[in-house]
Amino acid sequence: MSAPVSTRENLKQRLQQVTGDDLLRVHRVLEQQFRNPNAFVQELCEHVARYQGKRIRPMILLLSARMAGADAAGMSVGVKLGAVVEMIHTATLVHDDVIDDADLRRHVSTVHRRWNTETSVLLGDYLFSRAFHLAATTGDAEACRLIGRATDRTCEGELNQIAARIEQSTSERDYFRVISGKTGQLFSVSCRLGGRVAGASEKGMSHLRQFGMRLGLAFQIADDVLDLTENSQTTGKDAANDLNNHRLTLPLLRSLALGDDFERRKIRESLLSSDPADHQRLRTSSVVQRGVESARQTAEELVRRACRNLHFFPPSDSRDLLESIAMFSVVRSH
Ligand code: IPE
Ligand code: IPE
Ligand code: MG
Ligand code: MG
Repeated sequence: MSAPVSTRENLKQRLQQVTGDDLLRVHRVLEQQFRNPNAFVQELCEHVARYQGKRIRPMILLLSARMAGADAAGMSVGVKLGAVVEMIHTATLVHDDVIDDADLRRHVSTVHRRWNTETSVLLGDYLFSRAFHLAATTGDAEACRLIGRATDRTCEGELNQIAARIEQSTSERDYFRVISGKTGQLFSVSCRLGGRVAGASEKGMSHLRQFGMRLGLAFQIADDVLDLTENSQTTGKDAANDLNNHRLTLPLLRSLALGDDFERRKIRESLLSSDPADHQRLRTSSVVQRGVESARQTAEELVRRACRNLHFFPPSDSRDLLESIAMFSVVRSH
């Protein structure tokens, strides 16, 4: 079996070895989907595709498929569905950047900064609709149903996030409801689609669903930590965007829970402030560092639990890689 994956470079190499060709095929499908005879639409698609993201959703779909024993025909459908989930993800980002009033995405200007909001809204819609169209070409009605349902729930998550902010909710239950929708659903359906193209058993599908959900939750918690700890050169997106939007993410909820009365008051004041200097002070305060550490531990625990779901499947290179991706997703810097 494979050597243990101990570094990021090592992980990339292993990915290349195990899924190299599949990921390249997803890339080609995406290139084809982003091609358009209309020059303006083409320019917009090139803009969002200029800096590729990490492509973690197609990766976990393809690895789930391999781990569950997909044959060549199954992998071909998996490649198409990998492109579908990446397009849905890209559509949510184009819309999310309008919602979050963000300047930067994947190291380039967001669509609404470079053009305008109407362009972002329509481009996001266009990417969603193209993704559903592509999914329909598989002829698999159940896969389309799963994708549709997961996308509904992703949007519900973003809507619940607005509700939580209006109510200034400090409940972890509300936070987890939001992130299980906005991020967990697409991770979870990616893994299930992988299982589906491999003809996985009902029990296998249930483990894949849970693995994807737990990984998605951990991935979003790690993202919420990066919002507080990293700069925009590293992440390729705005630093402290959640603070600018007065969002109580898990590291801040934990800071509130761990802080004394004075610290709690300071957190609330800084969160309501629109002054970047206040946000910077908050980010480097000792109470937020403790909150970050506590949130990280929760993300790591979720990853450990996610990996236990994988043990339902027989040992394989793909299973090892899924485990490594899960572990790296909470120690990443972008
Ligand atoms: C960003 O997702 C949105 C979150 C769910 C945190 P990714 O971190 O997967 O974004 P890209 O595709 O790599 O840019
Ligand atoms: C993720 O939330 C958004 C979606 C999953 C739609 P964030 O707002 O934290 O994502 P980033 O940080 O902008 O990538
Ligand atoms: Mg955002
Ligand atoms: Mg974020």
